[in-house]
Formats: sequence, C-alpha cells, structure tokens
Amino acid sequence: MGKIVTIHSYRGGTGKSNIAVNIAANLASLGQRVGLIDTDLNSPGAHILFDIPPEEITPTLNDYLRGDCTIIDTIKTSSVANLYFVPASPREIDVITIAKEGFAVEKLVDGCYQFMEAFDLDYLFIDTHPGLHQETLLLISISDLLIIVLRPDEQDFQGTAVMLDIARDRLGVACILLLNFIPSSIEINTLQASCEKIYRASVLGFLPHSEAFFGSKGIFSMQHRDHDISQKFQAFAEDLSQLLCN
Ligand SMILES: Nc1ncnc2c1ncn2[C@@H]1O[C@H](COP(=O)(O)OP(=O)(O)OP(=O)(O)O)[C@@H](O)[C@H]1O
Ligand SMILES: [Mg+2]
Repeated sequence: MGKIVTIHSYRGGTGKSNIAVNIAANLASLGQRVGLIDTDLNSPGAHILFDIPPEEITPTLNDYLRGDCTIIDTIKTSSVANLYFVPASPREIDVITIAKEGFAVEKLVDGCYQFMEAFDLDYLFIDTHPGLHQETLLLISISDLLIIVLRPDEQDFQGTAVMLDIARDRLGVACILLLNFIPSSIEINTLQASCEKIYRASVLGFLPHSEAFFGSKGIFSMQHRDHDISQKFQAFAEDLSQLLCN
C-alpha cells in the first residue's frame, strides 16, 4: 500500500496547493506513481496548477461524492508521467451545493483508498481546505505524514501549534513543517532551529518568497527546472521518499 501525505495549514493562502502539486510532480519525475486529490471543495485551486480549463474539469470529486460516478471516472492524467489528479469542481453551483448540503466524509476517505488501489499509487497527496473541518481531521487521521505549511508570522505560529496539538498529539499522526514565504531578511537557520525546538517537530525545509513563483500557472518546478525554487521541490521530494521509505 502506498503512503498518504496530507498538506495542510491552519490559515489559508500559505502555499499548500502549490507545494502539494510541485512535490507530487517531482516524486513522479523520480519514477514513483503519484496521485493528488483536491479536497478543498469550498475553494478548489489545484486544477489551475494542472492547467485544466474549468469547462474541461468533469467529472469531479463533487460528482463522485454525489454518487453520480465512481472515483475512477474522475481521475485525470497530467503533463507529468505517472502523476494523476482528482479535481474538485470550481463551478459556482457545485461549490454552493456542497457548502449547503455537505457530503459523507467516509465516502471521501473510501475514494482516496480506491484511487490508491486502482492506480497502484506509491503516494497519494491530499490537498486540503485550511482550518479545522470534519473532513480534514478524518483525512489527517488516515495519513502517513502531515505536512504543515506555515508562513513566518504570529498567526501562523499559533495556528501551527493548534494543528500539531490535534494531529500529532491527539491523532498520533507524524507531522513535518514546511516554512514558506521566507523573506531574505530572515536568518533561516535560526528560524528553522527555533521552530524545531518550540514545536518539537522536524522541518522539511523552506521556500523563499519568490516573485517568479508568485501566482504562477502550471507546475512551476516542471516548467523552470533550473530555478532555485524547483531545486528545493526536488530536494523535498527526495527527502520525503527517504522519510517514507518507498
Ligand atoms: N514561496 C512563495 N513565493 C511567492 N509566492 C508564493 C510562494 N508560495 C506560494 N505562493 C503563491 O501564493 C499564492 C497562494 O498559494 P496557494 O494557492 O498554493 O496557497 P493555498 O495555501 O493552497 O491557499 P488556500 O488556502 O486558498 O487553498 C499563489 O499565488 C502562489 O503562487
Ligand atoms: Mg489551496
């Protein structure tokens, strides 16, 4: 059975989706079979990084959760060999419907396992909605690793403490931190060491605040392989595969 890696942050906009897609793409480039599922049904975004036009995103995770198709029907191939993707629907009506009516969270978990089994995945990456929601807690609880993404400010420092308390200390899930949007004025070794000490958690690494990366469309590390950011994603992928021993 492959490994489930969930990417989460307490606050929105920390870079979760970009980080999930780029690490997943680098693992696929290393020859692993990798899936990514966008479970951010309230504000889906990963399809933009897979560069799928909204009108072509069908069927989606929403259709599966409604019982209109199987999870297998929703799986898309990508421009990267061995990288597969289940999108959430960006259509307004679907986003409103799911927000109003909710869905069976157990069905979402079943879908993750079916995706892994049918595509013989080495890794399933789960991109999440920020904050604490029932489905996110359930997805975290079935994960082999939770990557908590944080920016270096007080709101994220507090949010990360909450997430570690729940995921690691209560649910018993292995957690690792990834520091994002690091300005050049911050001394990263000091920040990394204090995070490891304060949170008693390992840090996978950091990404600098990068103008080239900001707002990029498509899978940045596949498009700009020599860029510093891309090399960081490659290193994260290698470190994760060591950590998870696949
Ligand atoms: N290190 C970085 N430097 C510059 N821009 C970045 C960096 N990391 C992410 N971004 C940008 O920040 C924005 C938000 O990223 P992303 O959508 O991945 O965050 P998110 O945590 O998934 O957001 P949400 O909580 O809404 O799902 C995007 O425009 C992305 O390109
Ligand atoms: Mg996102």
